[in-house]
Amino acid sequence: MVAENSSESTCSCCHSEELYRPVSCRIESIEVLTPAEKLFRLVREDGKAFGHRPGQFVQVSLMGIGESPISVSSSPTRGDYLELGVRSAGVLTGEMHLLEPGATIGVRGAFGTAFDTDAMKGRDLLLISGGCGLAPMRALIQHVEDCRDDYGKVTVLYGAKSPEDMLYKDELAAWQQSEKLACQVTVDNIATGTCWDGNVGLITTLIPPLEIDPARTTAVIVGPPIMYRFVIAELKKKDLKDQDIVVSLERYMKCGVGKCGHCTIDHLYCCTDGPVFTLDQVASLKDAI
Ligand SMILES: Cc1cc2nc3c(=O)[nH]c(=O)nc-3n(C[C@H](O)[C@H](O)[C@H](O)COP(=O)(O)OP(=O)(O)OC[C@H]3O[C@@H](n4cnc5c(N)ncnc54)[C@H](O)[C@@H]3O)c2cc1C
Ligand code: FES
Repeated sequence: MVAENSSESTCSCCHSEELYRPVSCRIESIEVLTPAEKLFRLVREDGKAFGHRPGQFVQVSLMGIGESPISVSSSPTRGDYLELGVRSAGVLTGEMHLLEPGATIGVRGAFGTAFDTDAMKGRDLLLISGGCGLAPMRALIQHVEDCRDDYGKVTVLYGAKSPEDMLYKDELAAWQQSEKLACQVTVDNIATGTCWDGNVGLITTLIPPLEIDPARTTAVIVGPPIMYRFVIAELKKKDLKDQDIVVSLERYMKCGVGKCGHCTIDHLYCCTDGPVFTLDQVASLKDAI
């Protein structure tokens, strides 16, 4: 299985001027996810669809400040809006957190490879995310929920540092109750006095008890860099092959469209060859994982 390449899509960003020129978008709503993260719902001011697919990212811009790459956190099966889960990490994302609904911001994209939801059809899915990695994974989970008959057994695993750091708490609770998928959540630590009756331990502890048929399972991993090596090691113990392990990688980006060379992973550009890769594409590349 390979990551789906955006160059074959009919998305709006294929019109070359939209590769470079931000489209004006209105913030329809803002939801506080954690003390550091907010969910922004955007619509294009020209009323057009974004043409995005789960796994892709957009370049968000604020006039006079700059641009940042942010993963798309909503599936197009939910509507033509775009949802972005943004952590206040620096200048641009900090300014974004000060905005109110009704404000306008610029968006280029969606860019990059998507999760190949066609190649996943008929297969069991093991969707593993940690921390902010749930942002792009949420778009894939929404897609799978909306096209549920296309897929086999679906298992979602999510790990956060603490209960306070968990993103999309309401949706995680709903997925844990859902008949459409199995969902397990774990936290690394709980502070004294915190109310938490779920799992405590690293996300890797959730994998050994799972019953996985390696011949029909595709695993998808999105999370902080440290997580990949250990999760992949657990999946290898379950005999999953590199081509059936999908990863989404982050690199420092500028242009987002394969021109500036800031995002290279060996001979690959993270922004156009990725961010979604199968493990067999990157396993042998130095520093990829
Ligand atoms: C493909 C992709 C998808 C992303 N998706 C999301 C998302 O869904 N939600 C989210 O909150 N963030 C996401 N990020 C990270 C986000 O782009 C950075 O946090 C953001 O650019 C910081 O911009 P800033 O102006 O607020 O911070 P700055 O003031 O520019 O920098 C703050 C700090 O963050 C570091 N930094 C900036 N960009 C990156 C980067 N790409 N990787 C690592 N460190 C960086 C800087 O070096 C600095 O130390 C994504 C990054 C990539 C490449
Ligand atoms: S960000 Fe410019 S080439 Fe990838």
